[in-house]
Parts: sequence; C-alpha cells; structure tokens
Amino acid sequence: MYVEREKSAGEAISQERRDAHQNDKRILGHVVKCDGARATIAAFADTLDGEVTRQWTVGKMISINLGETRTVGLVYGIGKADATWHADQQNPIEVHVELIGEVRDSDGSKPTFDRGITAYPHIGAIAHRIRSRDLSAVYDLAGRRTVVVGHLSQDETIDACIAIDDVLGRHFAVVGTTGVGKSTAVSLLLRKSIEARPDLRVLILDPHNEFASSLPDYSVRVDSNTLDLPFWLFRLEELAEVIFRGRELVPEELDLLRDLIPLAKNMYRTPIGSANLRRGTDSLTADTPLPYRMADVIKMIDERMGLLDGKTDRPVLRTLRTRIESAVTDPRYRFMFGSRMIEDTIHQTIGNIFRVPHNGRPVTCLEMAGMPSEVVNSVCSVLARLAFDLALLSEGKFRLLVLCEEAHRYMPADPRLGFAPTRHAMSRIAKEGRKYGCFLGVVTQRPGELDPTILSQCSTVFAMRLANEQDQAIIRSAIADSSASTLSFLSSMGQREAIAFGEGVATTMRLKFEHLPLQFIPGNGKRHADDLDASDGGEIDLVQLVERLRNVPRAQPALGFVEPADPQKQPGDPGYRKAPLPELVARASVPEPAPKGATAELPSTASNEGGFGLRPRPLWKR
Ligand SMILES: Nc1ncnc2c1ncn2[C@@H]1O[C@H](COP(=O)(O)OP(=O)(O)OP(=O)(O)O)[C@@H](O)[C@H]1O
Ligand SMILES: [Mg+2]
Repeated sequence: MYVEREKSAGEAISQERRDAHQNDKRILGHVVKCDGARATIAAFADTLDGEVTRQWTVGKMISINLGETRTVGLVYGIGKADATWHADQQNPIEVHVELIGEVRDSDGSKPTFDRGITAYPHIGAIAHRIRSRDLSAVYDLAGRRTVVVGHLSQDETIDACIAIDDVLGRHFAVVGTTGVGKSTAVSLLLRKSIEARPDLRVLILDPHNEFASSLPDYSVRVDSNTLDLPFWLFRLEELAEVIFRGRELVPEELDLLRDLIPLAKNMYRTPIGSANLRRGTDSLTADTPLPYRMADVIKMIDERMGLLDGKTDRPVLRTLRTRIESAVTDPRYRFMFGSRMIEDTIHQTIGNIFRVPHNGRPVTCLEMAGMPSEVVNSVCSVLARLAFDLALLSEGKFRLLVLCEEAHRYMPADPRLGFAPTRHAMSRIAKEGRKYGCFLGVVTQRPGELDPTILSQCSTVFAMRLANEQDQAIIRSAIADSSASTLSFLSSMGQREAIAFGEGVATTMRLKFEHLPLQFIPGNGKRHADDLDASDGGEIDLVQLVERLRNVPRAQPALGFVEPADPQKQPGDPGYRKAPLPELVARASVPEPAPKGATAELPSTASNEGGFGLRPRPLWKR
C-alpha cells in the first residue's frame, strides 16, 4: 500500500517513522532538481537484495518533508536515465513530480492543505509516501456540504467527496468515451444529489431511454406516448421546426404564420362576435404561450385563399395549409396536437413535466429514443426555455437540474449544426441559470463536438477515459490550475474512474465511482431484456418490427374509459391509471376495428374531432 497509515491523530510529524529494519533507500527518495512547478526525485527501483519494490508509480501522490510544511506532489513521470536494467546492483531511478500544494499542521487539529507553495523543496529534501491524514487534508472540502461518490483511486480507504451545492449550482459535465460509465456515474450523482437536496427537481433529456430504470424510486417516465406538450406552448420558430419537419423554412409561409397565430389566439380568447376578432392583438405575439385552435388558423388560410386579391398568395397559402394538416394528423406529433380539447392546460403540463408537486418522485426522464429529430429539437427547446423561466419566476423556490445526455447533439460546436432555439435556451441556462436555481448537467462522449461556451460554463468536470487526442486537448485546456499533468492519464483510466476538477472538489482528484448494483445501472433493464430475448433463441417478429418502422399506432380502444386516472396523481406516477373495470374492458375490446398493418385507423384524427374540427378534407374540396 502506497499511503503510509497512522494510527493516532495529531501525533508529532516526523519523517523518521519507519520500521527500524527498513533501509532508507527502499522507500524514500531525495529531491535532486526543482523548478517552480515540478521537482525530480532520485530513488531506487529495487532493494539491495534485488527485489523490485514497485514503490513509485505514475499517478500517485507523494510528500516532500520541509520541516514546517510538507510539499505535496503528484508523480507524472518515472524513468531510468540510462534506460538499462542492472541485475547485479541497485537501479537508480528518476521520479518526476508536479507540485500541487503544501500541507501544514495547525496546532492540535488536523493538517490543512493549501494550493499555494510558500517554501519550495531544497535539493536533498526527503520525499516519502503521503500519509493518509495528509491525503484526506488535500481533498478536504472545508465545511462545505459533501456527498461521497466513491473513493480515491490512490487509496480505496479514503472517500472521494464532492461539494454537492457547488457541483450542482455551478453546472457540471461528465465526459468520457463510450462505455466507461458516464451514465452510471450520472445516475449515482443524481441519487446522491436528491438525497442531499430533497427540494431539487431533475429533468433528464434521455436519448436512449436508459435512466428511468436506474432511478426507479425517484423518477417518472415521459415518452412520446405520455408526453403532453400542446403546440400552443411552442414559440413560432419551434413550431416551424415541426411543421417544416426540420427542413429549411420558407420565409413567406413563416410570415403568414406569424400573422395568423396571434389572430387565432385572440379568436380563442374572444370567441363570440367576429367584430372584435382583429382588434386587441397588439399585446399578443406568435410566441405568447396562450392557447389557440389550429382549426382557426386553417379557417383563416381558407378565407384568404378565397379572397379575390389573394391570387398571388394562393400557392403559399395552399402549401402552408397542407403542411399544417399533415403535421396535425401525423401520429408522431400526437403529443402536441393530440388533445381533444384546446384548453389552457399550462399548469397541468408544467406540473407533470417539472414535478410540481413531486409526490416523492422529483426526476422526470424524457425518453426520446425513436422521436424524430425535429421533434427532439423543438421539445428540448421548449422544455429548456420553460425550465429557465420557471426558475426565474419562482424567485428561488423552484430548483431544477436539466441533465442533457449526449449534449453534443443539442449544443454542437459547429454553429451551423443543431437547432438554434435549443442552443439558445441551453446556453441561457448555462450562463445565467445558476442565479435563479436552474442548473445544467452535460454528459458527452465527444467534448470536442460540444459548444465550448457550454463546457466553459461547467465549473466541475468529471473527465473519464478519453481516447481521442482532440477531446483530451479540450479538457486539458479547461483545467486552470497547475495539475494539468494529471490529465496525461486520461487515455489510460479504468472503468468507473474519473478525474474530477473545478469548483466541486478541493483539488483535482482522481477517483473511482462507487460500484452500483446491477438494477441501478442505466439501461440495464433494457439490456437485460434484450439478453433474455436473445438467449431464448426466439424468432424475430418481423410483422411487429415493420409496424414499428412504419410508426403507425394500433387502433386503440377508448383508453379514457377503460383506465380511469387517479385525479390525485400525475401521468407517470405509479398507480396513475387505475385497474380497468372488467365490464369496460369487455365492452372496449369487442370491435377490433382495423386489421393489423398500415391501414390501421389513425386515432389522432378521430380524437381531434372535439377540439380542432380538423378532419381530412375530401379531395374534391382541396
Ligand atoms: N459505477 C458502476 N458500477 C457498476 N458497474 C458500472 C459502473 N459504471 C459502469 N459500469 C459498467 O459499465 C457499463 C457501461 O456503463 P455506462 O452505460 O454508464 O457507460 P457510458 O459511458 O454511459 O456509455 P455510453 O457512452 O455508451 O452511453 C455498465 O453497463 C456497467 O456494467
Ligand atoms: Mg451512457
């Protein structure tokens, strides 16, 4: 064991506390060179008997005794000047260390660590293993609220503590190549954060549907079937992303929408009497989150098409109409256009997604696997924007962490890529969110592809193994303090291992995250099921696969009757849907309307009847 253990605290410091039979040269070295930041220590790689000691290895901390103080160094290089091995004599080696600070003993109490160095090591100063008390002092968080997330890589008996308020409050990033344990580490961090701060809410943008199974007791799952985000909550550019399906916008059509949406909002607010329809819209914009009916927008388009002087606009009006209709009837956009009634459900929507009240489950996992990219773009933008605004307006009562897994997708380094509103909403949280209690956590395997301003706003970074040279360089440039050589280990770290640096830790710390049981590993439920299926040797159900590929939902019985919802709970909460009454099940399951396959009825059109009045028009009327 590399760390020298002490039994009694507060004992006088002496470098000579070695077993009497041990030879000096066996465990100690002497400083032979020192500049302002680094030192070289001369030592031996083996004993007089020829046994290789393995005392000195890269990545370990050592201390250099200077009497009053002990300079702490990190071994970053080790070698033998002549690059040959002599079996018949002792082999001298050079150990290169980076000086990271000094420890001093305050009277009677535990040692304290300081990053600055007041006394530099002299030539001949004795270097030795660091004591565990000194090592603890190096990582001591000086009274800040701490949580333990694992142990030090160097010494398993010392807890790796992070200052949770600083990690959350000043944003954090977890980076590392695929499969090193980023998601698992995040799940662990979330678990600890919620335990430490029960007022915290978390929104996970989860592109692989992994997290809900790893936080079963804290989370609710929202996927494209259970998401309810009415289209009128979208800003114009977000709505346009969906209506234009992520393709380039047509300015004339966008201008039309910009004109018509405020009118439709006004119509909704003052439904009776057409005289004042076009009045009083001054305070309304296409971005105001007020309900309106798409049917009204279509009606106004139809009216304009019918006008005699509107001939030149007709093609634009017609394409816009077609676009809106096809978006409204697209089953993939049911979460936006699917409500039967257009009602002001903003409280319910916000309550559901942002867990107010949270009923003991403060985490929302927004499962986005399988959602079309334009939907992901818009939904992330709407939610990030709402998150910030809610935190801002709640005056500190609402504390929310937005966790972006695969963050380089929404916030790419290349400004031409990605969806501008999402990028703006996220960078607003990154830049100003902490003042209002809206925090950002980013997880990425490609820090080089992530917007550098976002990464620079993350004050605590957990860097796991990174193989790519460019990614390593980015992390290296993000480390302000002198322990940059720690990062030379980035390419060779083991699973669960990370280098943590920034505000949330006292000193750059190499740690190993706690081992989590299988059921708490993100995505494990899915993988486990996959494994089971594969081991069954079961046939692949091609019909089902193709159905999924076509993304046409099966015709559903009237779920509202079959599964009454508990009014005290929110969608996603366990027990939200009560067990269906047997007679209702029987009634609902009698007619199986359409045969399997592409001809299945689209429930969205049927269910629109109440609210939009948007039924596919007969062809001869188009
Ligand atoms: N703390 C841990 N405890 C136990 N097992 C772990 C831990 N961290 C990682 N693992 C193991 O490593 C595997 C990969 O971890 P994880 O899915 O978190 O990696 P990742 O970095 O998120 O990968 P990807 O980039 O592909 O999403 C897990 O399935 C698990 O077996
Ligand atoms: Mg992952």
